Amino acid sequence: MNNKQRIRLIITIFLMPLMASAQKKTISQRVDSLLRLMTLDEKIGQLNQYSGKQVTGPESKVKTDLINDIRNGRVGSMLNVKGVKDTREIQAVAMQSRLKIPLLFSLDVIHGYKTVFPIPLAEAASWDLDAIRLSAHIAAKEAAAAGIHWTFAPMVDIARDPRWGRIMEGAGEDTYLGSLIAVARVKGFQGEQLGGTDAVMACAKHFAGYGAAMAGRDYNAVDMSEHQLWETYLPPFKAAADAGVATFMNSFNTLNGIPATGNSYLQRNILKRKWNYQGFVVSDWGSIGEMVPWGFANNDADAAEKAIKAGSDMDMESRTYKSYLAKLVKEGKVPEALIDDAVKRILYKKFELGLFDNPYKFSDAKREADVLNDGGHKTIARNVARKSIVLLKNQGNVLPLTKSKTKIALIGPLVKSKRDMDGSWTVNADTTQITSLYEGVKGKLAKKTELLYEKGCNISGNDKPDFTEALRIAGQADIVVMALGETWDMSGEAKSRTNIHLPGQQEALFNAVKATGKPVVVVLMAGRPLIFSDIAAKANAIVYAWWLGDEAGNAIADVLFGDYNPSGKLPVTFPRNEGQIPLGYTYYNTGRPVKNPENIIYKSAYIDSPNTPQYAFGYGLSYTSFSYTDLTLSAAKMHHTDNVTVSFRLTNTGKYAGEEVVQLYVHDEVASVVRPVKELKGFQKVFLKAGESKTVSFVINKEKLSFYNSKLQWAAEPGNFEIMIGTASDDIKLTAEMELL
Ligand code: GLC
Repeated sequence: MNNKQRIRLIITIFLMPLMASAQKKTISQRVDSLLRLMTLDEKIGQLNQYSGKQVTGPESKVKTDLINDIRNGRVGSMLNVKGVKDTREIQAVAMQSRLKIPLLFSLDVIHGYKTVFPIPLAEAASWDLDAIRLSAHIAAKEAAAAGIHWTFAPMVDIARDPRWGRIMEGAGEDTYLGSLIAVARVKGFQGEQLGGTDAVMACAKHFAGYGAAMAGRDYNAVDMSEHQLWETYLPPFKAAADAGVATFMNSFNTLNGIPATGNSYLQRNILKRKWNYQGFVVSDWGSIGEMVPWGFANNDADAAEKAIKAGSDMDMESRTYKSYLAKLVKEGKVPEALIDDAVKRILYKKFELGLFDNPYKFSDAKREADVLNDGGHKTIARNVARKSIVLLKNQGNVLPLTKSKTKIALIGPLVKSKRDMDGSWTVNADTTQITSLYEGVKGKLAKKTELLYEKGCNISGNDKPDFTEALRIAGQADIVVMALGETWDMSGEAKSRTNIHLPGQQEALFNAVKATGKPVVVVLMAGRPLIFSDIAAKANAIVYAWWLGDEAGNAIADVLFGDYNPSGKLPVTFPRNEGQIPLGYTYYNTGRPVKNPENIIYKSAYIDSPNTPQYAFGYGLSYTSFSYTDLTLSAAKMHHTDNVTVSFRLTNTGKYAGEEVVQLYVHDEVASVVRPVKELKGFQKVFLKAGESKTVSFVINKEKLSFYNSKLQWAAEPGNFEIMIGTASDDIKLTAEMELL
């Protein structure tokens, strides 16, 4: 190493951290000095967040002159104001205030701003953390170019109930996968450090337990053991906090009787003390005021007091902080120190974003035009979408289709749909940007190739449909491709369903078309796992295409015609019927396991349904096949301080190159708290050419064997562990025993 390199190394090792901590100290000092200048009114102003013109929640009963409040420093943030023009205009009003504290502009950029990517649950099916991070990065880049500082994403709620419409917005049922995806999305949205104009603040939501709403009904109560909370629902939030997520959002639900918004165990004990979280917490829309109908607060003033004491820093749209906090402080009911703490957390982020140095930093019209018209984003969206598709069935290898000599009939209510491809939670859905399945397939075929099409039925409603035309074109075709599922507003917030079969007459349409005897490929598009037992049994091939965003039609066509070999795996269990819900792969063996179903009556099972799902967590097919052989462990016994390497040989035994998501599962056979029959503790997405082999390894350490014991301590206990390598949670290829000493 020459002198120049040596000097550079010294600077990197010693001076950079000092400069960074100096910069941080500078921000803290700037925050403190600004706070000293603020009146109580101005401090409370920072805790108020209002929606712009587009209201995405219940209208508040408290009317306010927003522009005047902004001008008087009584607003800290706006949501649902987007675009350089509007954000610049509103920010200019804030700059008229006495202390010129800039506003934060926030928006639900959940899966894309202008370029709409697959819904988060679809992206989770890719098991491709780089692709997921890139998707969030592009969303952040576009949002930041449009004047947005802060997105209310990622939603990191673990969800195991497909009746709950918001299952579409998260990463599925698994804590391990969900935690890694949470980190990928936080890093994608925020970049390595806040302040760049290609990044936005992220928001881990909804803290906590929202995905376990009773009966899958949105906004309902949540009741669970401390053990379940710590083991299943908190880890993705902890992962997001450790990844530096700038903000948290609390949730509408109660947790064991206490609304999350007024829950100091969650927001103060766990988040701000135990996890030492330095960011700030925003309430969910109106959730502070909702503690009154919950029966947890006497009135809005009581709700405001309970919320600020519990650690809810910013009030989204309940307007209770605006209305009552000053009075509560003056009455001595709320210490001003609590207000100060909340204000400092918020101001710190505004400094970090660089908004005090330049309040219009994110509102640059030229950058907005350049970034929002970057055609490369669609290419990325198409690639992420292809990776998110799950091949559920391919009987007789009817897929991939050939591009010539095959007369295809496209039938179904979603064949030509555009808006539905973007799913729910889009803030800029521009249907002119969306490629339908029809257009995607058409684009694959030679110009003169005839493509038959018939809608067949409406997507919902029970009007007696007439399938005549659909059956006529099916009769003319060599193969039928059907596009069925949900409309974009059948999943998402406030979209819980008790019946998650295909709506309307879609399955009847499928059965009628199938009865023609033609091979039928079904493409299912939805925001959640659906139940489709006839299709599962009778279709020749099934492709689960979720809601894939602007590039849906092209991505699905890429898979149907083999231009991309499907590699997705389900991030959530698909039940056979609603009666099985909640159903997941981390079930317990019970004292009466279903071992030999024939001859045991008294077993933990149903008399009218198998226990097993229609499709299991981790399941997904490929156009090629893979073999798993030669499992070895570097040691059969492991001390707490050691680790063991698990290796095996993966071979592509088919004729297509492809990717396989190999999954590592662990089962702690005997413990002080009964353990699930298996838990995901590792995965790798491996690309292999046809005929190629590769040794794949996982390292097992104490962390992967640990769990929350009966005292809620995170620990690994000595004993035997089953180590499993699988291509799905219900398709284990290799197993071995290992002992922890
Ligand atoms: C909604 C959602 C939340 C969203 C917020 C702002 O009610 O629960 O996820 O970020 O309001 O739109």
